[in-house]
Amino acid sequence: MSTKILMVCLGNICRSPLAEGILQAKLPQDLFQVDSAGTGDWHVGQKPDHRSIAIARKYHIDLSKQKARQFQQTDFENFDHIYVMDQSNYANVIAMAPNPAAIDKVQLILKEHPNSKLAEVPDPYFGGDEGFEHVYQLLDETCELLAKKLLAQ
Ligand code: 4NP
Repeated sequence: MSTKILMVCLGNICRSPLAEGILQAKLPQDLFQVDSAGTGDWHVGQKPDHRSIAIARKYHIDLSKQKARQFQQTDFENFDHIYVMDQSNYANVIAMAPNPAAIDKVQLILKEHPNSKLAEVPDPYFGGDEGFEHVYQLLDETCELLAKKLLAQ
C-alpha cells in the first residue's frame, strides 16, 4: 500500500502544484502518491499558473498536466499527510476536519524545514517571477528533507 500525501494552498495554481511536482520527483512512484488541492474554487479545472509551470520546467519538472481541484472533506480519509503552505490554508482545512485524527494529518509544510527563516510559503501570485524562483527553492529544500524522512519511515 502506498503512502498518500496532499499539498494544499489557496488557488491550487501556484504553490501546491509546485510542491506536488517537486516531492513526486524525489519519491518512488510505486510507494508514494502525491496530489494537490486548493481551499478556494476559483481556478478549478485550470492548469497551474504559467509562472509555476515555467520555473518547474527550468528544473526539469513537468506541471503542465496538473489540473486544479478544490480541497474536500473526503481528502481527510484519502490521504495520510496533508501539508499546507500557510496559516490561512491551515485554518481553512482544519475547519473542515471531521475529527481529531483528521486534524493530526494537517501540518504547515515549512515545519519540515527547521532551518527556514520563514514559517509560511509566501503566495507569489500577485508578485513577479523572482517570487516563483524563491518559492521553488524553498519547496525544493523542504521536499528534500521531507522525502528523506518519508523514505526512512
Ligand atoms: P496559490 O496562489 O494559492 O499558491 O495557488 C494563488 C492563486 C490564485 C489566487 C490566490 C492565490 N487568487 O486569488 O485567485
